Amino acid sequence: MSLQIDLDGCGIEESILEKYRPSADRQLMDLWDGKYDFTGWIRQPLEIDEVSLGMVKEAAEEIRACSDCFIVLGVGGSYIGAKAVIDLLGEDLPEKEVIFAGFNFSARYVGEILKRIENRDFSLCVISKSGSTAETMVAYGIFREYLVKKYGREEAARRTYVITENRPNPLYTHAVEEGARIFELAENIGGRFSVLTAVGLLPAAVAGIDIRRLISGAAAIASPEFFRGKGLDYAILRHHYYETGKTVEVFEFFDPYAAFFGEWLKQLFGESEGKEKKGLFPATLLFSRDLHSMGQFLQQGTECMFETLITANEEEGQDVQVPESAIRPFGGHTLKELDLCAVSGVRDAHVKAGIPVVHISVDAFSPEEVGGLIYFFETQCAVSALLSEVNPFDQPGVEAYKKEMRSYVIKLQ
Ligand code: PA5
Repeated sequence: MSLQIDLDGCGIEESILEKYRPSADRQLMDLWDGKYDFTGWIRQPLEIDEVSLGMVKEAAEEIRACSDCFIVLGVGGSYIGAKAVIDLLGEDLPEKEVIFAGFNFSARYVGEILKRIENRDFSLCVISKSGSTAETMVAYGIFREYLVKKYGREEAARRTYVITENRPNPLYTHAVEEGARIFELAENIGGRFSVLTAVGLLPAAVAGIDIRRLISGAAAIASPEFFRGKGLDYAILRHHYYETGKTVEVFEFFDPYAAFFGEWLKQLFGESEGKEKKGLFPATLLFSRDLHSMGQFLQQGTECMFETLITANEEEGQDVQVPESAIRPFGGHTLKELDLCAVSGVRDAHVKAGIPVVHISVDAFSPEEVGGLIYFFETQCAVSALLSEVNPFDQPGVEAYKKEMRSYVIKLQ
């Protein structure tokens, strides 16, 4: 994997990293030894077998053969990672569109999708580990009704794919009754750590992504040896910044197709670390766009943040020549050349302003590199949460709004 972690813009002393390395290594080994619940993701890229991958690929081929669009319903970890992968790597084919829903109660959003699919063939995927999340179950009710009206109950069942835990939860029970295809989720992998399971793989495969390459990128770094020693310096640095008063980590991208990868990082770190009144607030910015809105704050505002810049060097592949006739000094160069100048310029300007900048880069956003990046951030996130003595794998705070909302729904009757 071509992953590079450049800490030169952080001004962090080697002695600080050295101080924390033994405890970061211990946390890593605890994850590998299964000391905590929900650590199934750590071995998953190594353990996922050909049969499971084959089943996902086969389902994806069926869906592509009979549908112009694939409606994927889910929220949080049951949606964001799949969209992140598809935005970065998927084909942009209107006749093989993957449409996400089930993460809001927006009548306009759902209504527009219903209009969009009116004369198109579609299949439905419902992703919910608990099988009871309100937004997703409501959307399932709406889209299933539509599917049954269009195709009849039997064909609707053939076109429905359910990804959930093997438990008698409401979704599992309904899927069994209807005869829908079920992909069972491992009990020991939580939502935001599940991108490299059927949760992310089925939508990705339908979008034409080579899921074997995605998994092989993660498997290439899935070992304690890859992370032990300096491999956890990013986790240590995050922990150090938090301990020394930083409150915000800004994830920054120059590639507009990486915007949802940023959303996934926000969820991964926010939901894993933000508890017990602790945690860095994860934010995302998309450059150059946000340099002209938030760049001012970064450069001269409150010194509450450090930056994690994530780029792909992308020397190969599609490029666009700026004509010689363009305004000087830009004419005659390519967009890729100018993009690299922007990356270096931003990094230097922010470092000069005293903001710590971590630069994480890969050669290209290929399936292998994206699979590797997912695994890399999952590991760093789990270790840095554990360094702050926080359980990365639960989300008790999410339950509070669900309870309050349910009481309002009950009052509607
Ligand atoms: O990461 C998580 O565990 C959460 O974001 C869940 O994925 C999210 O709340 C959706 O839950 P479920 O998959 O049970 O519908």
